[in-house]
Amino acid sequence: MGAYAEIHARSISDPEGFWGDAAKAIDWVQAPTKVLDGSDPPFYKWFPDGKLNTCYNALDRHVERGRGDQAAVIYDSPVTNTVRTITYSEMRDQVAHFAGALKGLGVGLGDRVIVYMPMVPEALVAMLACARIGAIHSVVFGGFAPNELATRIDDAKPKVIVSASCGIEGKRVIPYKPMLDEAIDLAKHKPDACIILQRPQVAADLSAGRDHDWVKLAAAAQPADCVTVDANHPLYILYTSGTTGQPKGIVRDNGGHAVALYWTMVNFYNAKPGDVYWAASDVGWVVGHSYIVYAPLLLGATTVVYEGKPVGTPDAGAFWRMIADHKINILFTAPTAFRAIKREDPHGEFFRKYDTATLRTLFLAGERSDPDTIRWAEDLLKVPVIDHWWQTETGWAICGNPLGIEHFPVKYGSATKAVPGWNVQALDNDGQEVRRGDIGALVVKLPLPPGAMLTLWQAPERFKSSYMEQFPGYYMTGDAGFIDEDGYVHVMTRVDDVINVAGHRLSTGGMEEVLAAHPDVAEAAVIGVADDLKGQLPVGFIVLKAGVTKKPDDVVAECVKMVRDRIGAVAAFKLATVVDRLPKTRSGKVLRGTMQKIANAEDYKMPATIDDPVILEEIGEALAKIGYASAHK
Ligand code: COA
Ligand code: AMP
Repeated sequence: MGAYAEIHARSISDPEGFWGDAAKAIDWVQAPTKVLDGSDPPFYKWFPDGKLNTCYNALDRHVERGRGDQAAVIYDSPVTNTVRTITYSEMRDQVAHFAGALKGLGVGLGDRVIVYMPMVPEALVAMLACARIGAIHSVVFGGFAPNELATRIDDAKPKVIVSASCGIEGKRVIPYKPMLDEAIDLAKHKPDACIILQRPQVAADLSAGRDHDWVKLAAAAQPADCVTVDANHPLYILYTSGTTGQPKGIVRDNGGHAVALYWTMVNFYNAKPGDVYWAASDVGWVVGHSYIVYAPLLLGATTVVYEGKPVGTPDAGAFWRMIADHKINILFTAPTAFRAIKREDPHGEFFRKYDTATLRTLFLAGERSDPDTIRWAEDLLKVPVIDHWWQTETGWAICGNPLGIEHFPVKYGSATKAVPGWNVQALDNDGQEVRRGDIGALVVKLPLPPGAMLTLWQAPERFKSSYMEQFPGYYMTGDAGFIDEDGYVHVMTRVDDVINVAGHRLSTGGMEEVLAAHPDVAEAAVIGVADDLKGQLPVGFIVLKAGVTKKPDDVVAECVKMVRDRIGAVAAFKLATVVDRLPKTRSGKVLRGTMQKIANAEDYKMPATIDDPVILEEIGEALAKIGYASAHK
């Protein structure tokens, strides 16, 4: 048996022994005497009687053990021409002061703090400060519109919101404060206070009595010590798209999270303390939470905060410059970033200008890595390129090539094997395992390993109905795919209305809700169509109400604006078309899957239950008008 097979088998047959050993890498205030409490499935609790502080494990312990002068964070912002290094000592001090500022505003154990920030190191300071005092952070991605922020404010009910005067998207300065003010106006719940980081590009107006200037508040605050919390105390809530416009608040704990993330740094990413680890993502996504903030710092590595894009800031050599300037050892990003670079620099002219010898590995996730992109990256970088599959819910990789254990040959189009801790299976509709090579629903046998979500914020029933009831005893990932003879897992598609645009997870159901709110729209459907750069793009189909005299193009333009205003620019909703009818089954279900196949010029079978086959021809014609192929069968 190879090292991987043995380790994976033990993680499944003896999870308590396995994770009990892994827990020794974490500093506990009270070491757990029990590893797993499975008395109330599907609500499993890891390390139920352990006590710790995540911020202590991420910062203080490294300072105490001699890493104080090592860089904890390197901030590189081509959009503001800034490079800043923050050592572990400096980071601990900044976090302690900001934690004191939060305490001064009345934030305590279990209180929620929303963080709505661009990619600046202060975003990490805010998150770690919450962890330090046992508050629960909920980071909202800056590309979401005020309405989405308001939904999250109402669900999380934060005592304080932390934000900045602006974000910078390429050459555009985006004022955040007006969006924050609008969100607070829209929300029913009102925070007691807001802390605003004033950036030189835009000065935000502060409302007297509610808003505080970050720098002044932190300077006046007493540094706060780490508070001991139960292992199961929530560390954060991170909202993610489901099938409706109401996002799901994924809850993650302190203990299991710290143990699992530390374990992945050593065993999956093959990283060492002192390495420079760059996850080119955003703190608003789970990749940012796990691999910009927590995992590299738990290990004692240096993490990189990049405020820029793969292309255009200033050119397609941006990533290579970063690697050369900061001696980056490990790069983690989404395939879409590499497609963007490849499109602008197909022959790697920019790459040859930089010395990237420090780079050991490229990891890709967030969407399926298409074989062309992997091959292109391998040829260019001459280092292993590792696809790995994971989700906001799981917090870390479900499948991948575990470089710290064993390096398997790459099969293009597969995320390699189940990572230790994950018992992955492909099931048919009756819950039976399909044959190797056959497509099924990808599920994970319970218990999920440490670091996976505990529940949904104040919605345990939704947690059960969304993930745990379809296949009792298993977590339904929402992805479908197959496991081949060698145990390689091939993730092929989502089974729900979630789409993946530039590595960002979006709900077509949420966009449909916005379209349906337009006064001239009778009904609407949104599907994800294949896109060479972003993987998928949303396309809307709009049926007008009888008697509407407005020009269809005008309604389309208004609908596009509505989605941008209500969900945000990140939805990338720019294409829509008016149709007479939507194709449906006789029971009234919209045939989105078939529409998607038509848009992507894929073969499709006429659904047996279709109400009126002619409508599919009309859909094909409407798609052709906006530039999508129609492959009729
Ligand atoms: N604040 C405000 N607006 C934001 C934003 C933020 N934090 N992030 C994105 N947006 C805006 C973009 O400016 C864009 O606006 P536009 O429609 O006016 O041009 C829109 O949201 C869509 O963004 P995106 O889909 O990211 O497109 P893009 O053209 O700006 O960039 C890529 C395309 C491929 C370069 C970019 O998506 C990228 O770098 N991806 C890297 C992968 C990644 O971060 N994945 C996250 C999970 S790992
Ligand atoms: P998110 O929760 O935003 O991380 O999105 C998770 C979803 O992205 C998964 O359910 C998959 O549909 C998709 N995904 C992420 N990584 C991969 C991958 N390596 N291969 C295939 N799909 C992926």
